[in-house]
Amino acid sequence: MRTIDYSGKKVNYFPLSLASGKAFCNRRNELKRIHYNLKNKNATLLISPRRYGKTSLALQAFESIQWPYAHIDLYKALSEEDIAHFILNGIGQLLGKIESTPQKLIKVASDFFTGLQLKFAVEKYGLSVELSQKDKRPVDLILAALERLDAHVLKRKKQAILFLDEFQVLAEVVNNNRIEAAIREAGQKTKAVCYVFSGSNRHLIESMFNDKKRPFYHLCDQLIVKRMHRSHYIPYLTHAAQERWSRTLSESGMEVIFEVTELHPYYLNKLCSLIWQKEQSPNAQDVYEIWHQHVNENKSSVEREFSLLRLNQRKLLLQLALNQEIKMPFSKKYALQWSMSSTSIHRAMASLIEKDYVLIDEEGNYKILDPLLKAVLSE
Ligand SMILES: Nc1ncnc2c1ncn2[C@@H]1O[C@H](COP(=O)(O)OP(=O)(O)OP(=O)(O)O)[C@@H](O)[C@H]1O
Ligand SMILES: [Mg+2]
Repeated sequence: MRTIDYSGKKVNYFPLSLASGKAFCNRRNELKRIHYNLKNKNATLLISPRRYGKTSLALQAFESIQWPYAHIDLYKALSEEDIAHFILNGIGQLLGKIESTPQKLIKVASDFFTGLQLKFAVEKYGLSVELSQKDKRPVDLILAALERLDAHVLKRKKQAILFLDEFQVLAEVVNNNRIEAAIREAGQKTKAVCYVFSGSNRHLIESMFNDKKRPFYHLCDQLIVKRMHRSHYIPYLTHAAQERWSRTLSESGMEVIFEVTELHPYYLNKLCSLIWQKEQSPNAQDVYEIWHQHVNENKSSVEREFSLLRLNQRKLLLQLALNQEIKMPFSKKYALQWSMSSTSIHRAMASLIEKDYVLIDEEGNYKILDPLLKAVLSE
């Protein structure tokens, strides 16, 4: 996160975890859209591959609108009970932000959890909640708690946000739609609580939200979080360079940063965090060297991940790493060139796209999504 040096002046402009405050670059249109949705009680769904900035964007939107929110990260949930545990604790966190004193919080919590047979304790960040009753289905607890939360926030004449991050995990760990249906029910009736969802497995999240037979069909405004444009980074990098070296970064140096990271938000921050450790403002050659050193240092772990893929998927990735512009990978030309049947190409490509190894860019080119993987494979 942000680090401030002893003089209290320097900011870490390139965090490797969440970007916030001065370390948060642009995303003005996305922020506007989330704010619009919050004010109009539209649920929002943020979708992108991993490490594009969904969580940073959502939290920045909530901080700037200054409404109390709970960040419920389902990433580590392994069961229906875990999902209920995380959601109930998120609600506890939110109640803690809404109530001004621990005494009020205890009073509210005792009323809130009456009949749900849940244990709670007041913690620094709000309430921690424990599921104690084994025979009550998690889905009933979730629906009851969400409805009570809305009634409570409404009574307090406030607005609040529930942010369900990595929401596709719900579909991974629960093999029925009951929890989805319960959240949808609460989301549709809501008067004071706004819902924001995020998901990084496009295939799973799209089947949850775009399938007519699933509860979340058409519930949300879907915001695809893309990579930022270079014009968003230029003033940002210029400012960060001024603070670091009291001079701007050379135009060619900046171009190399954009070229090798392909504007992937995580890799751009990773590379810049290495560059900004240098005493001198680097030129284009220095930037290449720092990137190559990073690629070399991570080569073995990337190769290990690559080796776990199926043979045809590996073949395709190697071809994509070597060819910049592939628009029609299923054509006869490539089937011949790669010695693969077009059915195998179809099957392997579909799987790589589903797992976010490959993306189709705005010009229709099939590309490797991860610039580090691409760099290792094209060496
Ligand atoms: N607006 C931004 N300005 C600067 N850096 C950003 C911005 N958004 C994201 N980043 C950087 O990109 C990386 C990924 O951000 P974040 O964790 O928010 O993405 P995510 O899509 O939620 O990732 P994950 O899939 O791992 O949950 C981090 O290094 C973060 O600092
Ligand atoms: Mg995230």
